[in-house]
Order: sequence, then structure tokens, then C-alpha cells
Amino acid sequence: MIELQGLTKRYGDKTAVDRLTFTVRPGVVTGFLGPNGAGKSTTMRMLLGLDTPTSGDVRIDGRHYTQLSEPMKHIGALLDAKAIHGGRTAYNHLLCIAQSNRIPRRRVDEVLETVGLTAVAKKRSKGFSLGMGQRLGIAGALLGDPEILMFDEPVNGLDPEGIHWIRNLMKGLAAQGRTVFVSSHLMSEMALTAEHLIVIGRGRLLADTSMADFIEKNSRSFVRVRTPQRERFKDVAHAAGHTVVEAGDGAFEIQDGDCAKLGELAAQHQLVLHELSPQRASLEEAFMQLTAESVEYHAHGAVTPGAPVGAGAPQGAAAPGDQPGDQPAGQPQWGAQWAAKKPKNQKKGR
Ligand SMILES: Nc1ncnc2c1ncn2[C@@H]1O[C@H](COP(=O)(O)OP(=O)(O)OP(=O)(O)O)[C@@H](O)[C@H]1O
Ligand SMILES: [Mg+2]
Repeated sequence: MIELQGLTKRYGDKTAVDRLTFTVRPGVVTGFLGPNGAGKSTTMRMLLGLDTPTSGDVRIDGRHYTQLSEPMKHIGALLDAKAIHGGRTAYNHLLCIAQSNRIPRRRVDEVLETVGLTAVAKKRSKGFSLGMGQRLGIAGALLGDPEILMFDEPVNGLDPEGIHWIRNLMKGLAAQGRTVFVSSHLMSEMALTAEHLIVIGRGRLLADTSMADFIEKNSRSFVRVRTPQRERFKDVAHAAGHTVVEAGDGAFEIQDGDCAKLGELAAQHQLVLHELSPQRASLEEAFMQLTAESVEYHAHGAVTPGAPVGAGAPQGAAAPGDQPGDQPAGQPQWGAQWAAKKPKNQKKGR
């Protein structure tokens, strides 16, 4: 179990982590979400004693990291997959860690097997692809067979097979009763992986909730309508007091609409409907709504296909996913926002 109590970190006048209090429990994968610069990596570094909190406290099974006599047997972490000595083979990299942490040599073979790197164990890691590097980092985290595992954006840059593998690994580790704490930018990925969510923005806690509750509380529902009589439908819907939003693909979205009532309205006016379906916003949308005030690094010129039609419609409504967690193809409005990385000159600790 990981417990944070009022954890705060300031760099000069910048508050990177602001009075964070939450608990990460065993048996489930806990997703740690937040926009770029929200303070995820800083929080994880403080947890491992790599950064000193300005105030507050963070404990692993009731103790500070520095109080753990054999820390790798309590917590395994991957913060930066590139933080390896490229001249060492995968086997020797893990052997160094094992020997300096009183972990038996046989564990090296075991974890190499677990992450699928046995065949390249004797190859120098500088020739490894990003995915192989991530696997090696995960092998290092697993080396001490710890009860707590923490990964900072482990799926960044991985191909679908690698993402699938990490997802199943994390779920499997949680199913064994371990505590799994993982940060990610990929909301759709978290929807498939995490059961619990911690969301932060500008260092502050925005949500500490189950995935199901998060979607329920933060996503909007609407009705999607497709009709060949677009103008007439808009007029009829407006006259009935509905807000009609363009979905960007020719369909309309009716905020807080009711399928049955909209169907009856269309029938009354003899309007043909090609689609009338209830929708719930995707996790990406729920997340973007929650963190809208906290996004520090915006891309400019993003296309917004969900722009409202007519007067009185809400601004910035986004297009839906079909399922919670789905990111529909060809809808760049959040992709552009998430693509906004922080400036390169900002120092990132390892
Ligand atoms: N060593 C440091 N010195 C000064 N500022 C720092 C340092 N480390 C982080 N920061 C600042 O603290 C804030 C939080 O950074 P952090 O890397 O923890 O965010 P993050 O949520 O991990 O972001 P990302 O999603 O981009 O990885 C940022 O504004 C960052 O610039
Ligand atoms: Mg980070």
C-alpha cells in the first residue's frame, strides 16, 4: 500500500505537487492520470526518495522508502526506460541490480523469461528498441518480487503488441494481490487497464475514484441523430428546446436528450431518421472536462468538429466515442491537446 499525506513539492515558485493525499491499494491497477506537467513523475520520484518533499509525507507499507532495508523486495519501479548502461547486456544489467540488492541470480533468468527477453539476454542494451528497453525496465522492477509495482508511462511509444502485453502483465500482477500504480496519458488505455483512478492537475488532486464512478460522474450523455432532413430536424429540435451540436461526420448530438422523446418528435413532424442512439462520452472526454482548467501546455489551431450549431449551444462540445474509453479515429480535438509536450529544456528527473 502507498499512502500520501499532504505531499507537496515546490521548485522555486513552481508548485509541482500540491498537498496530495491519497492511498494506492493492493489488488487493483490504479491509474495515475494528469496532463503534461501535472506532477505525476515528481510524485513518483518522491515516493522512491529521489526527490525530497517540501512538506507532507509519502509511505510504502507504513515506512519511508529510505527506511526500507531491502527496498526492491517491497517496491519495484520503472521511471525511465532509457536509464540503463547501454554497454551492458540485458543479463548483466539485471545481474548488477540483483547482486547489489541481495537478490538471487536465478531471479534474473526468471524475470527475463517473464518479459520475453531471454533470447536477447546476452545482447548489449544500447541496441534495444524502445519496446525492448521498456521490457528490460519492467524486468528490473520485478526482480525483487515486490508487492508494490510502479510504472511511469510504461506504454509510451510501444506498438499494439507491447501495449497488450504490458496491460495483461499489470492486470496479472494486481490479480496476484499486488499494488500496481501506473501513470499514463492514454485514457483509452487506462479504461482497459485500471480499476481505480487518481487524477491530478497542476499538482492537485482532482479525482480519487473507481473507473466506473469516474465515467459515470464526469461523462455527459447525449443522443446521436442522423437524418437526411437536416435543416428541418434542427428547426424542430430547436423549437422543442433542444441544443443541437454538429458531430463532425454529418450526425447531430442532442445534449441530455431522450431517445424515445426525440423519436416521437421526429415522427410527429414526419422526419426520416437514419440513426437515433444513446451515447455516453468517452473516458478521454471525461478526463478532458475534469482537467480542462489544469492543462498548462495547449496546442493551437486544433480542429473542433463538435462545434455547436445555432444560438445558445454549449461551447467546445466534443465528439463521442462509441464505448467508454474508445478514441474515435479521425477526431483530432483531444489528440492535438495531448500532443502538446512540455518544453524540452524543462528538467525531468529520472
Ligand atoms: N527538477 C525539476 N526542477 C524544476 N522543475 C521541475 C523539476 N521536475 C519537474 N519540474 C516541474 O514540475 C512540474 C511537474 O512535472 P512532472 O514531470 O512531475 O509532471 P508529469 O505529470 O510527470 O508530466 P508529463 O506528463 O509531461 O510526464 C512541471 O511544471 C515541471 O516543469
Ligand atoms: Mg512524467
